[in-house]
Amino acid sequence: MKRMLSGIKPTGQLTLGNYIGALRNFVNYQDDYEMFVFVANLHCITEYQDPKDLSKNLTDAIALYLACGLDPKKATIFLQTDVHAHAELGYIMACNTYLGELSRMTQFKDKTAKGEKNMTAGLYTYPCLMAADILLYNANYVPVGEDQKQHVELTRDLAQRFNNKYGETFVVPEPLINKVGARIMSLSDPSKKMSKSDETNKGCIYLLDDLALARKKIMSAVTDSIGVIQLDKENQAGLYNLIEIASSLTNRPMQDIVDEFAGQGYGKLKGYVADVVCDTLGTIQNRYNEIIHSRQIEEVLSDGAKKASAIADNTLNTAKEKIGLEIKY
Ligand code: TYM
Repeated sequence: MKRMLSGIKPTGQLTLGNYIGALRNFVNYQDDYEMFVFVANLHCITEYQDPKDLSKNLTDAIALYLACGLDPKKATIFLQTDVHAHAELGYIMACNTYLGELSRMTQFKDKTAKGEKNMTAGLYTYPCLMAADILLYNANYVPVGEDQKQHVELTRDLAQRFNNKYGETFVVPEPLINKVGARIMSLSDPSKKMSKSDETNKGCIYLLDDLALARKKIMSAVTDSIGVIQLDKENQAGLYNLIEIASSLTNRPMQDIVDEFAGQGYGKLKGYVADVVCDTLGTIQNRYNEIIHSRQIEEVLSDGAKKASAIADNTLNTAKEKIGLEIKY
């Protein structure tokens, strides 16, 4: 069975973008792959987080993984810091990464371009830690949304570089990106990605949003004045995004949805998208409410940490031996 690994960084509450671009795919793949899914808590602290908020967001993320349908009997679910090998291989990866490579990472470039002050060294080297996350498990595939493709490509380069220098050690992973739903856009500004750090809070739907609020966000989503329901991503990005959301959540082809609503007003289509989103959120939230008050999270994490550590420690030890870091006696 081929192996797959992915993770989410809960710097805030998980979003509909996380669900469509990543989480629902983990659930779909768990029957056919040996699946590892973790909560990337070390990645969260590249920027300051309120400790209380962070801890709640991490717990919620695990509860949401389960609520969205990840099954601990099929997938290994764990918290990154429960497996110490991540930080250690992360450092080793940083020693095999060139500054030029990190400076070319879109996230870093965007923040630099915006003139962000006090960027941390952790933010800069974070792709090295992400490479370690993946390589520790010798994952064949990494299911992610479009924005993470560049990081998985760097991981491939680092794995190949390490293998060339020290001999065959790591599996070179491939990103797995869906055709539909790989980049869900903000509802208030369809030129931007839907993201947890949405300042207006109108463009992003969170998985734990009150359903009435989620509906309101969709009904007031920015569209255009063309007034025709069709698939024109360039000129009708907001409309395209709404259709893509509905298509991802129902598995209906986008054109099918266009055909159903062609000739009608945007309000009708938005109402349909809101119904679909609220259906999905409602089901997830019902399960979340049961899980968050149970002992399931504790059990899943303790089991996951054991399984993940056994594999990760083994890979780390092999890498350290190859580099010559171990003393033999
Ligand atoms: P993060 O937490 O930003 O996002 C988690 C996953 O959700 C996807 N995603 C989206 N997909 C579609 N539309 C959107 N608007 C949207 N927003 C987010 C992301 O592409 C991602 O798949 N560095 C990673 C976390 C990470 C990781 C890893 C992932 C750390 N180590 C190892 C895979 C393997 C991140 O910040 O993702």
